[in-house]
Amino acid sequence: APRQLPPIEDQLKVINEVAEKYIKAATPSEEDLAIRKELKEDLEKICQQVSPNGTLELFGSVASGFATVNSDLDLIFCEDGEPREDPFEVPIKLTEKLKQAGFNILMLPKTRVPIIKVNSTPDPNQDTSDPKKAIAVDIGFGHKSDLAFRNTELLQTYAKCDARLKPMVLFVKWWSKMRKINNTYRGTLSSYGYVLMIIHYLINIVKPPVLVNLQSWGIPEGTPESEVRHKDGWNIWYWKEHKEQELLAQNGGITSNKADIGLLLRGFFEYYAKDFEWNHHVISIRTKGGLLTKVEKDWKSAIHRSNKAEVEYKDRYLFAIEDPFETTHNISRTCSSTGVKRIRFEFNRASRLIHFFSGEQAFRDTFFEEA
Ligand code: GTP
Ligand code: MG
Repeated sequence: APRQLPPIEDQLKVINEVAEKYIKAATPSEEDLAIRKELKEDLEKICQQVSPNGTLELFGSVASGFATVNSDLDLIFCEDGEPREDPFEVPIKLTEKLKQAGFNILMLPKTRVPIIKVNSTPDPNQDTSDPKKAIAVDIGFGHKSDLAFRNTELLQTYAKCDARLKPMVLFVKWWSKMRKINNTYRGTLSSYGYVLMIIHYLINIVKPPVLVNLQSWGIPEGTPESEVRHKDGWNIWYWKEHKEQELLAQNGGITSNKADIGLLLRGFFEYYAKDFEWNHHVISIRTKGGLLTKVEKDWKSAIHRSNKAEVEYKDRYLFAIEDPFETTHNISRTCSSTGVKRIRFEFNRASRLIHFFSGEQAFRDTFFEEA
Protein backbone atom coordinates (compact mmCIF):
# COMPACT_ATOMS: atom_id res chain seq x y z
CA ALA A 1 0.00 0.00 0.00
CA PRO A 2 1.27 3.53 -0.72
CA ARG A 3 2.95 5.16 2.25
CA GLN A 4 0.82 7.79 3.96
CA LEU A 5 2.70 11.08 3.66
CA PRO A 6 2.38 13.89 6.13
CA PRO A 7 1.03 17.08 4.59
CA ILE A 8 3.75 19.35 3.22
CA GLU A 9 2.95 22.11 5.77
CA ASP A 10 4.27 19.80 8.49
CA GLN A 11 7.45 19.23 6.49
CA LEU A 12 7.98 22.95 6.06
CA LYS A 13 7.46 23.54 9.77
CA VAL A 14 10.20 21.00 10.55
CA ILE A 15 12.55 22.62 8.03
CA ASN A 16 11.98 25.98 9.66
CA GLU A 17 12.70 24.58 13.10
CA VAL A 18 15.80 22.69 11.99
CA ALA A 19 17.07 25.75 10.12
CA GLU A 20 16.53 27.96 13.16
CA LYS A 21 18.33 25.57 15.53
CA TYR A 22 21.18 25.06 13.12
CA ILE A 23 21.65 28.77 12.59
CA LYS A 24 21.89 29.29 16.36
CA ALA A 25 24.48 26.51 16.64
CA ALA A 26 26.49 27.50 13.56
CA THR A 27 26.71 31.25 14.11
CA PRO A 28 30.16 32.14 15.44
CA SER A 29 30.19 33.54 18.98
CA GLU A 30 31.74 36.87 19.97
CA GLU A 31 34.67 34.86 21.26
CA ASP A 32 35.10 32.97 17.95
CA LEU A 33 35.13 36.29 16.12
CA ALA A 34 37.61 37.81 18.58
CA ILE A 35 40.00 34.87 18.05
CA ARG A 36 39.77 35.33 14.29
CA LYS A 37 40.51 39.02 14.66
CA GLU A 38 43.57 38.31 16.82
CA LEU A 39 44.78 35.69 14.37
CA LYS A 40 44.46 38.18 11.52
CA GLU A 41 46.54 40.70 13.48
CA ASP A 42 49.23 38.08 14.25
CA LEU A 43 49.41 37.10 10.59
CA GLU A 44 49.55 40.71 9.47
CA LYS A 45 52.62 41.31 11.64
CA ILE A 46 54.34 38.34 10.01
CA CYS A 47 53.38 39.55 6.51
CA GLN A 48 54.82 42.96 7.32
CA GLN A 49 58.19 41.34 8.04
CA VAL A 50 58.23 40.53 4.32
CA SER A 51 56.67 43.77 3.07
CA PRO A 52 56.41 46.51 5.74
CA ASN A 53 53.75 48.67 4.05
CA GLY A 54 51.33 45.89 3.15
CA THR A 55 48.11 45.22 5.06
CA LEU A 56 46.03 42.07 5.49
CA GLU A 57 42.43 42.65 4.48
CA LEU A 58 39.40 40.48 5.19
CA PHE A 59 36.84 39.28 2.62
CA GLY A 60 34.66 36.18 2.17
CA SER A 61 32.08 34.90 4.62
CA VAL A 62 33.61 36.29 7.81
CA ALA A 63 33.33 39.74 6.22
CA SER A 64 29.94 39.24 4.55
CA GLY A 65 28.28 37.76 7.64
CA PHE A 66 27.66 34.32 6.08
CA ALA A 67 30.29 32.63 8.23
CA THR A 68 29.72 29.55 10.36
CA VAL A 69 31.91 28.36 13.23
CA ASN A 70 33.78 26.23 10.67
CA SER A 71 34.35 28.94 8.06
CA ASP A 72 37.87 29.72 6.98
CA LEU A 73 39.33 33.20 7.22
CA ASP A 74 39.75 34.69 3.74
CA LEU A 75 42.50 37.29 3.64
CA ILE A 76 44.37 39.21 0.98
CA PHE A 77 47.76 40.72 1.63
CA CYS A 78 47.41 44.10 -0.08
CA GLU A 79 50.30 46.14 -1.37
CA ASP A 80 49.93 49.55 -2.99
CA GLY A 81 51.23 50.35 -6.45
CA GLU A 82 51.95 48.18 -9.47
CA PRO A 83 51.79 44.39 -9.11
CA ARG A 84 55.18 42.79 -8.58
CA GLU A 85 57.15 41.37 -11.51
CA ASP A 86 57.19 37.92 -9.88
CA PRO A 87 53.84 37.25 -8.15
CA PHE A 88 55.39 34.33 -6.22
CA GLU A 89 58.21 36.37 -4.63
CA VAL A 90 56.29 37.59 -1.56
CA PRO A 91 54.30 34.34 -1.12
CA ILE A 92 57.46 32.22 -1.06
CA LYS A 93 59.20 34.45 1.49
CA LEU A 94 56.04 34.59 3.57
CA THR A 95 55.69 30.81 3.55
CA GLU A 96 59.09 30.55 5.26
CA LYS A 97 58.24 33.18 7.88
CA LEU A 98 54.92 31.53 8.69
CA LYS A 99 56.60 28.14 9.10
CA GLN A 100 59.15 29.69 11.46
CA ALA A 101 56.27 31.10 13.50
CA GLY A 102 54.93 27.56 13.93
CA PHE A 103 52.01 27.68 11.48
CA ASN A 104 51.09 24.67 9.42
CA ILE A 105 51.48 25.89 5.81
CA LEU A 106 50.52 24.69 2.36
CA MET A 107 51.17 26.67 -0.79
CA LEU A 108 48.83 25.80 -3.63
CA PRO A 109 50.39 25.42 -7.04
CA LYS A 110 47.28 24.70 -9.12
CA THR A 111 45.55 28.07 -8.82
CA ARG A 112 45.47 31.11 -11.11
CA VAL A 113 47.13 33.22 -8.44
CA PRO A 114 49.27 32.25 -5.46
CA ILE A 115 47.35 31.22 -2.33
CA ILE A 116 48.83 30.22 1.00
CA LYS A 117 46.75 27.87 3.12
CA VAL A 118 47.36 28.17 6.85
CA ASN A 119 46.23 25.45 9.31
CA SER A 120 44.48 23.52 6.55
CA THR A 121 46.10 20.11 7.01
CA PRO A 122 45.75 18.18 10.27
CA ASP A 123 49.06 18.09 12.10
CA PRO A 124 49.58 15.55 14.91
CA ASN A 125 52.25 17.78 16.51
CA GLN A 126 49.84 20.70 16.61
CA ASP A 127 49.71 22.76 19.79
CA THR A 128 46.05 22.12 20.60
CA SER A 129 46.03 24.65 23.44
CA ASP A 130 46.16 27.51 20.93
CA PRO A 131 42.75 28.02 19.26
CA LYS A 132 44.38 30.25 16.64
CA LYS A 133 46.24 27.26 15.25
CA ALA A 134 42.94 25.52 14.50
CA ILE A 135 41.35 28.14 12.23
CA ALA A 136 41.90 27.56 8.52
CA VAL A 137 43.09 30.66 6.67
CA ASP A 138 43.53 31.42 2.98
CA ILE A 139 45.97 34.19 2.19
CA GLY A 140 45.85 35.65 -1.31
CA PHE A 141 47.90 38.52 -2.69
CA GLY A 142 46.56 41.66 -4.26
CA HIS A 143 45.30 45.17 -3.88
CA LYS A 144 42.59 46.98 -1.93
CA SER A 145 40.73 47.63 -5.18
CA ASP A 146 40.40 43.87 -5.85
CA LEU A 147 36.96 42.71 -6.89
CA ALA A 148 36.90 40.12 -4.09
CA PHE A 149 36.22 43.01 -1.69
CA ARG A 150 33.51 44.43 -3.95
CA ASN A 151 31.65 41.15 -4.31
CA THR A 152 31.86 40.52 -0.58
CA GLU A 153 30.24 43.96 -0.05
CA LEU A 154 27.58 43.16 -2.64
CA LEU A 155 26.62 39.97 -0.78
CA GLN A 156 26.63 41.88 2.49
CA THR A 157 24.24 44.44 0.99
CA TYR A 158 21.88 41.71 -0.24
CA ALA A 159 21.93 40.21 3.27
CA LYS A 160 20.81 43.59 4.64
CA CYS A 161 17.97 43.82 2.11
CA ASP A 162 16.25 40.71 3.44
CA ALA A 163 16.85 38.86 6.70
CA ARG A 164 15.97 35.51 5.10
CA LEU A 165 19.04 35.39 2.86
CA LYS A 166 21.54 34.64 5.63
CA PRO A 167 19.67 31.68 7.16
CA MET A 168 19.13 30.24 3.67
CA VAL A 169 22.84 30.55 2.93
CA LEU A 170 23.82 28.84 6.19
CA PHE A 171 21.36 26.02 5.58
CA VAL A 172 22.53 25.42 2.00
CA LYS A 173 26.21 25.59 3.04
CA TRP A 174 25.60 22.99 5.75
CA TRP A 175 23.77 20.72 3.31
CA SER A 176 26.40 21.12 0.57
CA LYS A 177 29.23 20.38 3.01
CA MET A 178 27.56 17.28 4.44
CA ARG A 179 26.72 16.03 0.95
CA LYS A 180 30.31 16.74 -0.21
CA ILE A 181 29.42 19.04 -3.09
CA ASN A 182 31.21 22.13 -1.72
CA ASN A 183 34.82 21.52 -2.65
CA THR A 184 36.45 23.35 -5.55
CA TYR A 185 39.53 21.13 -5.36
CA ARG A 186 37.37 18.06 -5.85
CA GLY A 187 35.36 19.21 -8.85
CA THR A 188 32.36 20.80 -7.15
CA LEU A 189 31.19 24.32 -6.27
CA SER A 190 32.42 27.00 -3.82
CA SER A 191 30.22 28.52 -1.14
CA TYR A 192 30.29 31.72 -3.16
CA GLY A 193 28.69 29.81 -6.06
CA TYR A 194 25.88 28.53 -3.84
CA VAL A 195 25.25 32.06 -2.54
CA LEU A 196 24.87 33.34 -6.12
CA MET A 197 22.45 30.47 -6.88
CA ILE A 198 20.32 31.51 -3.88
CA ILE A 199 20.38 35.21 -4.78
CA HIS A 200 19.30 34.40 -8.35
CA TYR A 201 16.39 32.38 -6.99
CA LEU A 202 15.32 35.16 -4.60
CA ILE A 203 15.50 37.92 -7.22
CA ASN A 204 14.16 36.22 -10.31
CA ILE A 205 12.36 32.98 -9.61
CA VAL A 206 10.33 33.14 -6.43
CA LYS A 207 7.11 35.08 -6.86
CA PRO A 208 6.75 37.71 -5.56
CA PRO A 209 10.50 38.43 -5.51
CA VAL A 210 12.21 38.50 -2.14
CA LEU A 211 15.21 40.52 -3.34
CA VAL A 212 15.53 43.29 -5.89
CA ASN A 213 18.40 43.26 -8.38
CA LEU A 214 20.74 45.92 -6.95
CA GLN A 215 22.77 46.15 -10.16
CA SER A 216 20.10 46.75 -12.78
CA TRP A 217 19.02 50.29 -11.88
CA GLY A 218 20.02 53.54 -13.51
CA ILE A 219 23.14 55.01 -11.96
CA PRO A 220 22.20 58.19 -10.07
CA GLU A 221 23.60 61.36 -11.56
CA GLY A 222 26.73 62.66 -9.91
CA THR A 223 27.98 59.21 -8.84
CA PRO A 224 31.78 59.38 -8.82
CA GLU A 225 33.43 57.46 -11.67
CA SER A 226 35.40 55.39 -9.14
CA GLU A 227 32.13 53.86 -7.91
CA VAL A 228 30.96 53.06 -11.41
CA ARG A 229 33.96 51.53 -13.11
CA HIS A 230 36.74 49.33 -11.80
CA LYS A 231 40.28 50.09 -12.98
CA ASP A 232 40.13 46.92 -15.09
CA GLY A 233 37.02 48.23 -16.84
CA TRP A 234 34.29 46.22 -15.06
CA ASN A 235 31.04 47.89 -14.15
CA ILE A 236 31.00 47.74 -10.35
CA TRP A 237 28.05 49.96 -9.54
CA TYR A 238 25.14 48.74 -7.38
CA TRP A 239 22.76 50.23 -4.84
CA LYS A 240 24.85 50.41 -1.68
CA GLU A 241 22.20 51.21 0.85
CA HIS A 242 19.23 49.39 2.14
CA LYS A 243 17.03 50.57 -0.73
CA GLU A 244 14.71 47.61 -0.92
CA GLN A 245 11.45 49.38 -0.16
CA GLU A 246 12.21 52.27 -2.48
CA LEU A 247 13.21 49.95 -5.28
CA LEU A 248 10.11 47.83 -4.87
CA ALA A 249 7.95 50.93 -5.02
CA GLN A 250 9.68 52.14 -8.20
CA ASN A 251 9.16 48.70 -9.66
CA GLY A 252 5.40 49.05 -9.63
CA GLY A 253 4.78 48.20 -6.01
CA ILE A 254 5.34 44.45 -5.86
CA THR A 255 3.71 42.97 -2.80
CA SER A 256 6.29 41.77 -0.35
CA ASN A 257 6.84 38.02 -0.19
CA LYS A 258 6.22 36.83 3.35
CA ALA A 259 7.21 33.19 2.84
CA ASP A 260 9.16 31.53 5.63
CA ILE A 261 12.58 29.90 5.24
CA GLY A 262 11.07 26.43 4.82
CA LEU A 263 8.97 27.45 1.86
CA LEU A 264 11.79 29.41 0.24
CA LEU A 265 14.22 26.51 0.66
CA ARG A 266 11.72 24.10 -0.84
CA GLY A 267 11.29 26.39 -3.85
CA PHE A 268 15.05 26.82 -4.17
CA PHE A 269 15.74 23.07 -4.26
CA GLU A 270 12.83 22.46 -6.63
CA TYR A 271 13.92 25.15 -9.05
CA TYR A 272 17.39 23.69 -9.47
CA ALA A 273 16.04 20.13 -9.50
CA LYS A 274 13.35 20.74 -12.11
CA ASP A 275 13.42 24.04 -13.98
CA PHE A 276 16.94 25.35 -14.25
CA GLU A 277 18.55 24.17 -17.50
CA TRP A 278 22.04 23.19 -16.42
CA ASN A 279 23.36 22.54 -19.92
CA HIS A 280 21.96 25.69 -21.44
CA HIS A 281 21.62 28.45 -18.82
CA VAL A 282 24.11 30.81 -17.24
CA ILE A 283 23.14 32.28 -13.85
CA SER A 284 23.76 36.02 -14.04
CA ILE A 285 22.53 37.94 -11.00
CA ARG A 286 23.48 41.31 -12.54
CA THR A 287 21.19 40.73 -15.56
CA LYS A 288 17.46 41.51 -15.63
CA GLY A 289 15.71 38.14 -15.47
CA GLY A 290 18.85 36.54 -14.06
CA LEU A 291 19.62 34.14 -16.89
CA LEU A 292 21.83 34.20 -19.97
CA THR A 293 22.73 31.29 -22.21
CA LYS A 294 26.06 29.55 -22.69
CA VAL A 295 25.71 30.14 -26.43
CA GLU A 296 25.32 33.92 -26.09
CA LYS A 297 28.33 34.11 -23.73
CA ASP A 298 30.29 31.72 -25.92
CA TRP A 299 30.85 29.62 -22.80
CA LYS A 300 31.09 26.24 -24.43
CA SER A 301 34.23 24.14 -24.33
CA ALA A 302 36.81 24.13 -21.57
CA ILE A 303 39.79 26.45 -21.89
CA HIS A 304 43.27 25.30 -20.91
CA ARG A 305 45.29 27.98 -19.20
CA SER A 306 48.53 28.24 -17.31
CA ASN A 307 49.40 30.60 -14.49
CA LYS A 308 52.57 32.70 -14.22
CA ALA A 309 54.38 29.71 -12.70
CA GLU A 310 53.46 27.75 -15.86
CA VAL A 311 51.14 25.44 -13.98
CA GLU A 312 48.34 24.17 -16.19
CA TYR A 313 44.72 24.42 -15.14
CA LYS A 314 41.39 24.15 -16.85
CA ASP A 315 38.41 26.53 -16.93
CA ARG A 316 35.25 24.56 -17.60
CA TYR A 317 31.74 25.65 -18.54
CA LEU A 318 29.78 22.51 -17.66
CA PHE A 319 27.93 24.55 -15.09
CA ALA A 320 27.87 28.32 -15.51
CA ILE A 321 27.54 31.11 -12.94
CA GLU A 322 28.71 34.51 -14.09
CA ASP A 323 30.57 36.63 -11.56
CA PRO A 324 28.46 39.75 -10.81
CA PHE A 325 31.30 42.12 -11.79
CA GLU A 326 34.00 40.21 -13.68
CA THR A 327 31.58 38.92 -16.27
CA THR A 328 34.10 36.75 -18.15
CA HIS A 329 34.69 34.78 -14.97
CA ASN A 330 32.74 31.55 -14.45
CA ILE A 331 32.39 30.88 -10.72
CA SER A 332 31.54 27.24 -11.40
CA ARG A 333 34.57 26.66 -13.68
CA THR A 334 35.84 24.25 -11.00
CA CYS A 335 32.97 21.82 -11.56
CA SER A 336 33.95 18.65 -13.37
CA SER A 337 31.54 16.52 -15.32
CA THR A 338 31.05 14.11 -12.40
CA GLY A 339 30.94 17.12 -10.06
CA VAL A 340 27.97 18.63 -11.93
CA LYS A 341 26.24 15.25 -12.03
CA ARG A 342 26.66 14.90 -8.28
CA ILE A 343 25.39 18.43 -7.62
CA ARG A 344 22.32 17.80 -9.78
CA PHE A 345 21.73 14.46 -8.12
CA GLU A 346 21.85 16.20 -4.73
CA PHE A 347 19.33 18.86 -5.76
CA ASN A 348 16.98 16.11 -6.91
CA ARG A 349 17.54 14.16 -3.72
CA ALA A 350 17.00 17.24 -1.52
CA SER A 351 13.88 18.21 -3.41
CA ARG A 352 12.43 14.71 -3.09
CA LEU A 353 13.34 14.45 0.60
CA ILE A 354 11.49 17.64 1.42
CA HIS A 355 8.29 15.79 0.50
CA PHE A 356 9.24 12.43 2.02
CA PHE A 357 10.18 12.61 5.65
CA SER A 358 8.32 12.57 8.89
CA GLY A 359 9.64 14.37 11.90
CA GLU A 360 12.72 16.36 12.75
CA GLN A 361 15.03 13.44 13.49
CA ALA A 362 14.24 11.72 10.19
CA PHE A 363 14.92 14.98 8.39
CA ARG A 364 18.28 15.54 10.08
CA ASP A 365 19.31 11.92 9.55
CA THR A 366 18.57 11.87 5.85
CA PHE A 367 18.81 15.40 4.51
CA PHE A 368 22.16 16.13 6.16
CA GLU A 369 23.47 12.58 6.08
CA GLU A 370 27.20 12.60 5.44
CA ALA A 371 27.78 11.49 1.84
P1 GTP B 1 32.92 29.61 3.51
O1 GTP B 1 34.40 29.82 3.53
O2 GTP B 1 32.54 28.24 3.05
O3 GTP B 1 32.25 30.00 4.77
O4 GTP B 1 32.31 30.59 2.42
P2 GTP B 1 32.80 31.96 1.75
O5 GTP B 1 31.57 32.83 1.60
O6 GTP B 1 33.96 32.54 2.44
O7 GTP B 1 33.11 31.55 0.32
P3 GTP B 1 34.44 31.10 -0.36
O8 GTP B 1 35.45 30.74 0.66
O9 GTP B 1 33.99 30.12 -1.39
O10 GTP B 1 34.88 32.41 -1.17
C1 GTP B 1 35.42 33.52 -0.53
C2 GTP B 1 35.26 34.77 -1.38
O11 GTP B 1 36.07 34.71 -2.54
C3 GTP B 1 33.89 35.04 -1.92
O12 GTP B 1 33.07 35.63 -0.97
C4 GTP B 1 34.20 36.00 -3.06
O13 GTP B 1 34.27 37.31 -2.54
C5 GTP B 1 35.60 35.61 -3.52
N1 GTP B 1 35.66 35.05 -4.88
C6 GTP B 1 35.81 35.71 -6.05
N2 GTP B 1 35.86 34.91 -7.10
C7 GTP B 1 35.73 33.69 -6.62
C8 GTP B 1 35.69 32.42 -7.25
O14 GTP B 1 35.79 32.24 -8.46
N3 GTP B 1 35.55 31.38 -6.44
C9 GTP B 1 35.46 31.52 -5.09
N4 GTP B 1 35.33 30.43 -4.33
N5 GTP B 1 35.49 32.70 -4.47
C10 GTP B 1 35.61 33.78 -5.23
MG1 MG C 1 35.65 31.45 3.04
